[in-house]
Amino acid sequence: MGEFTDFAHTEGQSATQGLAVDEQKALGQFMTQPSIALAMARRACCGVDVDVVRILEPAAGSGILAAAVVETLLERPARPSRIELTFRELDGRLIPVLRRLGEKMRRIAKTKGVSLSVSVRKGDFLLSEIATKRRNQYDVIIANPPYFKLNKKAPQALAHAYAVYGQPNIYGLFMAATAQLLAPEGRWCFITPRSWTNGSYFAAVRRHMLAWLRIDAMHVFESREDHFTDDDILQEAMITWATAQVAPLPDIVVSTSQGINDLADAELRSLPAAKIVGGDRGRMIALPLSDQDDFPSCSETLESLGLKVSTGPVVAFRASRHLSERKNRNTVPLLWMQHISRMGISWPIDKKREHIMACVESSWMLVPNAPMVLLRRFSPKEDVRRVTAAAYTGGLPGAQVGLENHLNYIYRPGGKLSRAEAMGIAAYLNSRQVDAYFRSVAGSTQVNATELRQLAMPTLAQLTEIGQRCTLGMSLGAIDTCVGSILDKQEIAA
Ligand SMILES: C[S@@+](CC[C@H](N)C(=O)[O-])C[C@H]1O[C@@H](n2cnc3c(N)ncnc32)[C@H](O)[C@@H]1O
Repeated sequence: MGEFTDFAHTEGQSATQGLAVDEQKALGQFMTQPSIALAMARRACCGVDVDVVRILEPAAGSGILAAAVVETLLERPARPSRIELTFRELDGRLIPVLRRLGEKMRRIAKTKGVSLSVSVRKGDFLLSEIATKRRNQYDVIIANPPYFKLNKKAPQALAHAYAVYGQPNIYGLFMAATAQLLAPEGRWCFITPRSWTNGSYFAAVRRHMLAWLRIDAMHVFESREDHFTDDDILQEAMITWATAQVAPLPDIVVSTSQGINDLADAELRSLPAAKIVGGDRGRMIALPLSDQDDFPSCSETLESLGLKVSTGPVVAFRASRHLSERKNRNTVPLLWMQHISRMGISWPIDKKREHIMACVESSWMLVPNAPMVLLRRFSPKEDVRRVTAAAYTGGLPGAQVGLENHLNYIYRPGGKLSRAEAMGIAAYLNSRQVDAYFRSVAGSTQVNATELRQLAMPTLAQLTEIGQRCTLGMSLGAIDTCVGSILDKQEIAA
């Protein structure tokens, strides 16, 4: 057992050993470990019972994922009579490895009465005829695609424009392009970062995928692997299994592990598909990661409450000539992430450039000095909660204030938030319920405005009641108790 995957792993390592990290990053070349490859393949092959199995590994590397599929099929008592394997790989150094692996698998398959053919092609999969012209070709598609951002005008993005909204990531294009390549009931399995499950940039990918595929199962690795980093935002990795062009099932199987070592023992939970995959155009995917994750059962949104969330308009390097180390009569406060703590704002803190000129030229980047809720857009990964929010009640000097771009702010356009509303919203956002929501929709530590817009919010009356009971600098435990008691009261009354 493990003969093909071990071979692919060892050969892949020696072929890429001399590669500089930059070169590896440019190709998105991070190989799958054998135990993960086998876990992916075993579930992907479940229910594949055609006599001729056509397999595609579109970003093949050393071919470990397809090797795991072939290994799984050959282990069965009832084997297929024929396996047709297609590898696509951009890096010429890996082509001889794929050929050697193919030859080895072909020989061993033959001894088990299975005829195996292997096609190894060097080139860009996304621009290949398979990806751009074909449909319904394969019974199993398995991939660990490259991961990096592409320019919107890159040929790969233009060839798969149906899956592009904003700046594409190459891995999303692999997901979308392969979804339509499976024969009905064909199986699809990808290991990727978790970022495709949420956010507007991946909405077109999700829409396209979900039009062709039904998601069967998802596994999340909670310890973030270093290789899924994006502008220093660490990403969790996940595996998704899906089936092509079949009726939906009521449940999706969800599991989590810290990493590879506890993967085999990860507990499986069956959760209603409707709770996981959003039915709207955005098709966000929310993954409750533990049984304690009770999402807020509220039915308002920021929009329905007449509130808006925006990102701080001051981009420091563009606005540098307006930023100042010292206060003077033309400056107003400029708030950065460092000024915001959970339920508290401290300004000034003797931080560099915490003042901004209030003049005609800078006026567009200033906001009215009125009550609002401020949130950090990023949190350190070891932070206990994803969201850090504070109520700003309007106590700083000046008619306006500056908000740096690493902050989001919630306000009432054309109106004013009361102190209790601001306090209530901040407390709710810092609560355990909202933390569970953010962990379920986002695999990174980023808190995006898009997800905030979709967050279920309590009513204004409830938020006000929470705000009246909360105080600045309150502990997380006390916030949870307060928010929980007011939301539970509503549930009991209902
Ligand atoms: C993340 S690695 C995974 C390799 C292998 N499937 C595995 O799981 O170990 C992605 C592979 O895709 C290759 N690659 C990158 N861009 C590609 C493209 N546009 N078309 C085909 N292969 C590509 C890289 O050279 C790399 O070998």
